[in-house]
Amino acid sequence: MARVDEVEPEHLLARRVLDEPLVLFRENDSTIAILEDTCPHRFAPLSLGRLRDGAVECGYHGLRFSGTGSCVFNPRADGSIQPGLAVRAYPSVELHGLIFVWMGDPANADPSKLPDLSFLDGASSNDVLTGYLRTEANYELIIDNLLDASHADFLHPGLLSTGGAYGRHVPKVDYAGDEVCETFMLENLPTQPAVTPYLSEPGKPAHQKMVFRWVGPSFVYISGDIWQDSDPSRVLISRSLHALTPESNGATHYWFKIRRNYDLERPVPNREAGVLYAFGQEDKPMLEAVAKRMGGKNFWDLRPAVLQGDNAQVIARRHLRKMVNAEQPQS
Ligand code: FES
Ligand SMILES: [Fe+2]
Repeated sequence: MARVDEVEPEHLLARRVLDEPLVLFRENDSTIAILEDTCPHRFAPLSLGRLRDGAVECGYHGLRFSGTGSCVFNPRADGSIQPGLAVRAYPSVELHGLIFVWMGDPANADPSKLPDLSFLDGASSNDVLTGYLRTEANYELIIDNLLDASHADFLHPGLLSTGGAYGRHVPKVDYAGDEVCETFMLENLPTQPAVTPYLSEPGKPAHQKMVFRWVGPSFVYISGDIWQDSDPSRVLISRSLHALTPESNGATHYWFKIRRNYDLERPVPNREAGVLYAFGQEDKPMLEAVAKRMGGKNFWDLRPAVLQGDNAQVIARRHLRKMVNAEQPQS
């Protein structure tokens, strides 16, 4: 729900997640705290206040709340604090520079639901690209996009197009537990423009194995291995996580972490800008236009045409609905 470096010491960061306004800050021992961003006195956003001795001081009348959410200081009268005066605190974990929050019942916070970022272990800062985009679209549309390689041939002609190979290939789809995995094996085909310069023989055909894996509800891993017959030991490898945090029903915070073993000479910000161009200047406007055109209506109620090759997206959508329904309170 945030990058670790967004939460600077002495700084309050406001962010909305699942339609809940939250405030993030660092306590005195630099642990990250996440609280409901609404003061229980007159409902002022706590993020408009300040940090005092590792606690948030409301900018309206000065109540202070610690990282546990409890009120720890009352400037009024004798300073007594009524029992239970608190804001909600949310469990969180820092992992490879990202902060993950658990919005449900704290008793159910389960570290095994955190994404697997082991592909970043041992990486130097030069190996890893990080990015953030806020997209005015429901997160299901972004999952759809990330599991849909065929759009690269049309929406990303300058960087990621395979000249139609993705669309012609019907990928293998595996579905188990809360995961849907889609595998493309492309043989002896031209490569994407963004990859071509790093091949042993640029311009010559290559083989590629691309795996798009959704782990419900909102993580997508994309891995790519590209090689040529002339030097099968030289494999261009990329591994990435795409983490989607719903801000609301109509907007999504989207973070990515990418590690590659090629294109390591250009400065990291230049490489990140290249990725952000594809995601931010090509995917994002299309997704926002799609969301607008759907007008908040249910995807299936709009009776979308389902094409061959859409299987992974359809299965993921249906499974996600099951996961969401399973979390609804039983009547
Ligand atoms: S609104 Fe926060 S102390 Fe009054
Ligand atoms: Fe895309």
